[in-house]
Amino acid sequence: MKYLGIHHIRFAVDNPEQFSRFLIQHFGFQYFAHRLNNPSAQSSIAVKHHSVVFVIDKRNHDNTVLEVNGNLPNLFLNGNVNYPVDTVCDACFQCNNIDEILERVKTTQKGSCVIQSKVEDLNGTVSYAVIQSPFGNLQHTLVDLSNYSGKFLPGFQINHNYVNSNHHYVECIDHLAYMVPTGLADSAIDWYNFVFEFERLFINKNDEVNEGFKVEHGPMGMRLKAIHGIDQFAPKCTGDFSPDMYIAPVKFVFGEPLSSSTSDQISTFLEEHRGMGIQHIGLGTRNILEAVNHFKQLGASFVAPPIEYYHDMNRIEEIEDLNITTDQLMKSGILVESSDSDNTEVLLPPDVNSWYIMQVFTKNLFKEQTFFLELIQRHRTQGGFGAGNIKALWSGVQAHLEKVKELEN
Ligand SMILES: [Fe+2]
Repeated sequence: MKYLGIHHIRFAVDNPEQFSRFLIQHFGFQYFAHRLNNPSAQSSIAVKHHSVVFVIDKRNHDNTVLEVNGNLPNLFLNGNVNYPVDTVCDACFQCNNIDEILERVKTTQKGSCVIQSKVEDLNGTVSYAVIQSPFGNLQHTLVDLSNYSGKFLPGFQINHNYVNSNHHYVECIDHLAYMVPTGLADSAIDWYNFVFEFERLFINKNDEVNEGFKVEHGPMGMRLKAIHGIDQFAPKCTGDFSPDMYIAPVKFVFGEPLSSSTSDQISTFLEEHRGMGIQHIGLGTRNILEAVNHFKQLGASFVAPPIEYYHDMNRIEEIEDLNITTDQLMKSGILVESSDSDNTEVLLPPDVNSWYIMQVFTKNLFKEQTFFLELIQRHRTQGGFGAGNIKALWSGVQAHLEKVKELEN
């Protein structure tokens, strides 16, 4: 059976030690493995929280190309670190059909295969290929682990103190939010759907095939469209799974500014990131309230929604159905979106009559406004991403500003 899922996400940052320490201290990650990279003598640091693995590399400031040293597989998770700001540089997919994928990349004549090779150690052989996405700085390393029994990847030394605790706060990568300039989301979606055989995932009932889901409020506006990998053998985030076996299905949410907009968060991202790329990663959790409160105790900072958000009567009714008090949600800054929301209904299987998601966003984690994490808890839906919440938050901010203005006068 063919499969494809997220193996890990790799970052290129100015200070890998600091960023990995930050994730360990504030978000419950553990130091998982490291690799000494030749010839730069820089470490790749892998941190892990349940099945979520982030590999953190040193960003290369001077734009020089790392030299290839004989037969060493230097491009195996060791490239794409030349970038002017901290960034997500690689979404590594585990799959078992690398040749087919590369054939399709060739057909599109967009993007390129940087290298295709094999790397081995005492645990077996990993076939891999690196594809440069034609949309921004992101690349995709494909790894086929069919003939490999190691705990991570060749070249990495596992930290033997790593313990996969039964009690974890996040359990999978739920989605990657990919920001592109106005008019490019469709080309990006076409390329990803063709190359990786992804399909459109409808966000809600107002998500139209061509238009996507449009969020507009005053001068702000964005369009969102999602895609996902299908035919995954791996269970979904809400199911039971063994963390060693689990491969998170791929879900991308593409966002682009509406041409008329002038001050939306996507434009800010594109400017500060110096181009298209990954703006945030949604981490799936089974208990968002517990996770947020735990991470807050560890010193993590989350965005507090304006108080007006929780005063919306429809929302209060939605919240009452969840057996969580508005007060609890407000204190933790958790946003809710459900099948009861006016504008957020997806097609449900006949035996399922309601769904909801709860989500919360961290503050920006990099120097520039270019990256944050989201925690998301899903109940009976894979499609909701909280698109309606963006609108509600914008309205909330607007209402707050108007109130301040009134008080000033
Ligand atoms: Fe998100």
